[in-house]
Amino acid sequence: MGNAVEKVNNSHPPEIGATVAIYPGSFDPITNGHLDLIQRGARLFDRLIVSILRNESKEPLFSVEERAEMLREVVADYANVEVDSFDGLLVDYAASRSATVLLRGIRAISDYEYELQMALMNRRLCPEVETVFLMANEAYSFISSRLVKEVFSLGGNIAGLAPPLVEARMRGRIPKFK
Ligand code: PNS
Repeated sequence: MGNAVEKVNNSHPPEIGATVAIYPGSFDPITNGHLDLIQRGARLFDRLIVSILRNESKEPLFSVEERAEMLREVVADYANVEVDSFDGLLVDYAASRSATVLLRGIRAISDYEYELQMALMNRRLCPEVETVFLMANEAYSFISSRLVKEVFSLGGNIAGLAPPLVEARMRGRIPKFK
């Protein structure tokens, strides 16, 4: 929370009675599966905050700022979607943003255990915040950021898996395929 949020948080406070949802994740990089969830989340909630975890232990391909830039570009047409970043506990960040919903996608049964653990831990930490799961669109249920990076780095075609701007950025980042 704190200064990390301030860096990219240029939002205004929510209207009274509005349901604010947070879609947290690594988004390294955003895929069409994420985008599908954002589009559906934007229809369900008054405001959707797509928020990038800052203090990740994994070595990311893109910096938080780069990921935020890409996300902002792809959500530019959605008036009720905002892009932000956070560190620390997700539930503390949710409280700081007056959010009552955490949005997550489930692609396959293999996602379930990890998601269940996180949802139950978050509920224990903050029972007022509900985790809402959306089933991934079947067209995207096999897509992950990790696989998109792997396929691209090995010269495979990622068209249709991630927004075109992501592919363009990856070309710059992975010199072999410039
Ligand atoms: O896209 P990811 O990597 O699956 O997202 C994981 C994320 C960001 C949702 C998760 O790591 C998270 O919420 N981290 C914040 C730390 C936290 O609150 N941990 C305790 C609750 S599980």
